[in-house]
Amino acid sequence: MTVDESLARFDRHLVTVSTEPAVTAAPPAFGTVFTDHMVTVRYHEQKGWHDARVEPFGPIPMSPAAAVLHYGQEIFEGLKAYRSADGDCLLFRPEAHARRFQESARRLSMPVVPAGLFLRAIAELLEVDRGWLPGGVETSLYLRPYLVATEAFLGVRPAREYLFAVIATPVGPVSPGSKPLTVWASETYSRAGAGGTGAAKCGGNYAGAHLAQAEAARAGCDQVVFLDSGHHQFVEEMAGMNLFFGYEGHLVTPTLTGTILPGVTRDSIIWLARDAGLDVVERPIALAEWQADAASGKLREVFACGTAATVAQIGMLRTAAGDFPVTAPGPMGAALRGRLLGIQYGRLPDPCGWTRRIG
Ligand code: COI
Repeated sequence: MTVDESLARFDRHLVTVSTEPAVTAAPPAFGTVFTDHMVTVRYHEQKGWHDARVEPFGPIPMSPAAAVLHYGQEIFEGLKAYRSADGDCLLFRPEAHARRFQESARRLSMPVVPAGLFLRAIAELLEVDRGWLPGGVETSLYLRPYLVATEAFLGVRPAREYLFAVIATPVGPVSPGSKPLTVWASETYSRAGAGGTGAAKCGGNYAGAHLAQAEAARAGCDQVVFLDSGHHQFVEEMAGMNLFFGYEGHLVTPTLTGTILPGVTRDSIIWLARDAGLDVVERPIALAEWQADAASGKLREVFACGTAATVAQIGMLRTAAGDFPVTAPGPMGAALRGRLLGIQYGRLPDPCGWTRRIG
């Protein structure tokens, strides 16, 4: 099947569509329970995209020599579908996620999934697993598209065969009713270096963050903040979230230099903040500046954002030099979070056409 044909037909294998709701209002811990089905599409250098299927969620047969298992040729995305008050399924900015998936594929020398195929695969999964869309407060269905190199080959070059798949997991608020985060600035580990894969959503960026996260936990912190790999002077991002700093009348966020993931939530927050009359400045932010401005009170608030967490307030920076508290929750982060969630659930007007109604 060619790309065009695969867009026209996804074969359904052993698919049983339940009309009964599959989840209650309170989904289990993030990423632990999966819906009944998955979408799989194969790629071969000669055949292109083919064999598009919707099938029961289950093990994926793969050669022990598959390139992904050895050299980590893998990328992924994370996006959410929300249930509106009238029961509609709203997908948030799927085109932006499709574009980032393509950028990640280019960086990892993988075939680019056409945006139409990416969107169609998600729609196919939502069609059969619609009953899994939870309806409780701040719940959603988290969709995880990914692309892995499946060619059985141990030579070091881009693989010639791939699997594109989409799975889904019902999720609640990442940390319901949680206290503001205490974060640890790691001066030992870096997430990404100039010219590296920091801007790509590839598995290695996340596996490489675990040790730094463990260092943060040993320091009594919830999350790690990565600094630039050159001199550990400038703030980059957390292990899965971008950072914003609130000052009188404006927000500051680190410039996308190629070492930071260009978050879809980051981009949405920048737009919403400007729309609310705040200046948003993208520039390098020194760790020393964070420390000094927190100590002087000039820094009003700090928050992190990402698809999974939406907006998470930060109450304390901990470094080797000591603790630097900031007021949390702060009004800017709280207001932006409220408006973003309002748009995502269809309670507020969507000024940018970000949401897609499915089914
Ligand atoms: C997301 O926010 O979607 C992420 O990808 C972060 C993490 C769950 C890997």
